Amino acid sequence: MNLLITMAEIVVNLDLIARLDGKVAVVTGGSDGIGSKVVEQLLCGGARLVVADLNDAKGQSLVEALKESKGIQQQQDIVYKHVDVSDYDSVLALFKYTIDLHGKVDMAIHCAGITEISGWFDPAITMDTISTPPALKVLDVNLRGTFYFTQVALAALGHGRQSDKGAGDKSITLISSIAGFKESPGLFVYSASKHGVMGLMRSLRGYLPSAFNVRLNVICPWATDTPMFSNLRDAWVQENLPLNTPDEVAGIVAQCAADESIHGKAVYVAGGKGFDIEEGIDRLEAQWMGEKQARDLANGQAFLGTGSSWGAKR
Ligand SMILES: NC(=O)c1ccc[n+]([C@@H]2O[C@H](COP(=O)([O-])OP(=O)(O)OC[C@H]3O[C@@H](n4cnc5c(N)ncnc54)[C@H](O)[C@@H]3O)[C@@H](O)[C@H]2O)c1
Repeated sequence: MNLLITMAEIVVNLDLIARLDGKVAVVTGGSDGIGSKVVEQLLCGGARLVVADLNDAKGQSLVEALKESKGIQQQQDIVYKHVDVSDYDSVLALFKYTIDLHGKVDMAIHCAGITEISGWFDPAITMDTISTPPALKVLDVNLRGTFYFTQVALAALGHGRQSDKGAGDKSITLISSIAGFKESPGLFVYSASKHGVMGLMRSLRGYLPSAFNVRLNVICPWATDTPMFSNLRDAWVQENLPLNTPDEVAGIVAQCAADESIHGKAVYVAGGKGFDIEEGIDRLEAQWMGEKQARDLANGQAFLGTGSSWGAKR
């Protein structure tokens, strides 16, 4: 049993995260919650940060507070830039700004997100009350925004890069959720958007190393003590259920962004620990679908390859 836990666990290596001198990181959702702690940890490790968010007041005051508390002298070591991740031009402007400032991007980390907005599947709906569809803003921010971020980040990570650079030095880290792989009652659009983020990672992970020489990982936090979870927080704690600190989740995010050996993982974070979901699903396939089905599936996947010869061009 211990062996299984060890195989899937992603352990934070503080020495690695402390050696980020010269790296440039873009962090969306950086004004608050998990993103703000990612910003702080990467800055402490020596990276230069572009903090991007919709909440300008919080983002600017975070940047000023970190400059003061960490004794940052160079203005460019940490800057704030407004972004609305659901607006393609805004995402493009964020990465253009970063390249103008630093000439490159090494770590693209996408923490911006919003939770469910009620309106879908109300049991009171009738044929008389459904003339207009409820909002899909959550899909726009969480899934459309992740597509925009990933597309522009891939171009930016390649900017000015030496062609002989080895795989692993550039990374994208996205945030899904427990709601990206488990039932999440009441979170209809949120859960669909987070499953979408998982799907995007799974569709890209075989393709990115050869097509872009970039690593990609997804973090799937369970309950985390941020403003997003504030409505449920007290009742949750009363039930003695585990609650991640935003610092703990940020540590796993930073590890996946910095560790050149981590690619294609979906890391569930609960009680402050990170576990790769994908490894277990793959390893146990023969147990839950049978040896022959697992072999056939592996052969089919090998036949399809990275999709670069057919899928992406269709
Ligand atoms: N807190 C949890 O329990 C939990 C659990 C699982 C997954 N997550 C995910 O983790 C990520 C971070 O969440 P958090 O808990 O830190 O939330 P949070 O609300 O504390 O922070 C989210 C940040 O994203 C920003 N943001 C929202 N919409 C934006 C937009 N359109 N453009 C740019 N920035 C925008 C907000 O201003 C805020 O600063 C989200 O993707 C969330 O879905 C959180």
